Amino acid sequence: MLALLGGAPEVTAAHPHNDLCAFSPQDREIITAHLEAGGTTSYYGRDGELREFEDELAEFFGRRHCVAVNSGTNALHSAFFGIGLQPGDEVIVPTYTFLATVSPLFSLRAVPVLADCESDTGNIDPEDIRRHITPRTRAIVVTHQFGHPVEMDAVLDIAREHGLKVVEDASLAFGATYKDRRVGSLGHVAAFSLGSTKMVSGGQGGALVTDDPEVMERANLLGHFVRRSDTEVSSDFYRPFITTGYGHNYRMHALAVAMARGRLHRLDDLIAARHERLTRLSSGLSGNPFLAPPVTRPYVHRGQWGGYTATFDPEAAGVGIDTFVAALAAEGLEVAARGYHPLLHRAEFFRTADDGYYPGQPWHEKRLYDDGDLPRSEWHADRQIAFPIFLDEPVELVDAYARAVHKVAGHIEELRAAEAADSTAQ
Ligand SMILES: Cc1ncc(COP(=O)(O)O)c(C=O)c1O
Repeated sequence: MLALLGGAPEVTAAHPHNDLCAFSPQDREIITAHLEAGGTTSYYGRDGELREFEDELAEFFGRRHCVAVNSGTNALHSAFFGIGLQPGDEVIVPTYTFLATVSPLFSLRAVPVLADCESDTGNIDPEDIRRHITPRTRAIVVTHQFGHPVEMDAVLDIAREHGLKVVEDASLAFGATYKDRRVGSLGHVAAFSLGSTKMVSGGQGGALVTDDPEVMERANLLGHFVRRSDTEVSSDFYRPFITTGYGHNYRMHALAVAMARGRLHRLDDLIAARHERLTRLSSGLSGNPFLAPPVTRPYVHRGQWGGYTATFDPEAAGVGIDTFVAALAAEGLEVAARGYHPLLHRAEFFRTADDGYYPGQPWHEKRLYDDGDLPRSEWHADRQIAFPIFLDEPVELVDAYARAVHKVAGHIEELRAAEAADSTAQ
């Protein structure tokens, strides 16, 4: 019997099942070693382990420059500022992404133009990017959603044709490859999070990589102290401004540097552990009539695989996604309906011009959206069930998740009857 209807749950392991915010034993060792060696609390210049870490990241992505910062959000802000976006510039962005892919544009008053996604991968659809280009378009931002690389050949062709900059948000795709090219090395600049839920995590952190020295200098001036700008900013134009910089403190904490660097050194093992578990989950789910594992195209590798959603078929199941997820949750699974985050065009910020950013001054240039405006993203997101991104959990737990999904599917008639009785009672 389904646990939702009084039966025993399939998964009895204690929660949380996948605590991405926990320090690993290796993190503890690294942090302790830093403290015992009398390590610093903060790198004001591009010094010490920070320099080594940035050099390693630049080399990993095959880029000339890396600037580490204190979050992925601020890496994106630095990237957007770095490419010189100005008020009124239009930037084509996905609606199906984490909010920080887009929100740093607000403070630059650059106008986000939300684009639809491919219905299978959930990634921004190059054809929809084309439809949104206007004379004011300056850049395209892509998120390699849950590690699956965006169709970059098509995106880069569009960017070349129209003279646009491409910013990659590689936060969920560290180590991913597209046609044997590393994600994060494909656009003009790539930004990524080194935050708590990421594979190369410092708890908090982020970085950008680029070949463009102007982006690097502007990122330094935006978020770093004069001591760092003194060694990094040498161009005639920007050099005079190193004393004040451009106003923010985006320095990455020294312990976060040490921890993230340690994880970078263990990246292959971490990726292997996650792939073992998530491919096992996909095999376990295959053949389920109502829940299909994510699609991975043959010429990509998902790298860190920073999210796992499976596609629910409400028509075949004859129940809504909330009912199905409630049944899975009752079986002991940590799952969420409609993916990890809401679509951006459903957020209030994109529904009203009077957004409170500058009180009393509605932002009339901003694009506003309604339900139905980005139909494939709505179709896709409304069918996604988000799972934990298992890393070092026992594979038996992963197998138990797959079994629980099959159990719920096997009792679908009872679930339909329960849903119908519920709606009659309301
Ligand atoms: C795709 C994406 N972009 C940006 C960010 C922002 O990173 P942070 O939380 O480090 O600011 C995240 C964080 O989860 C993310 O998933």
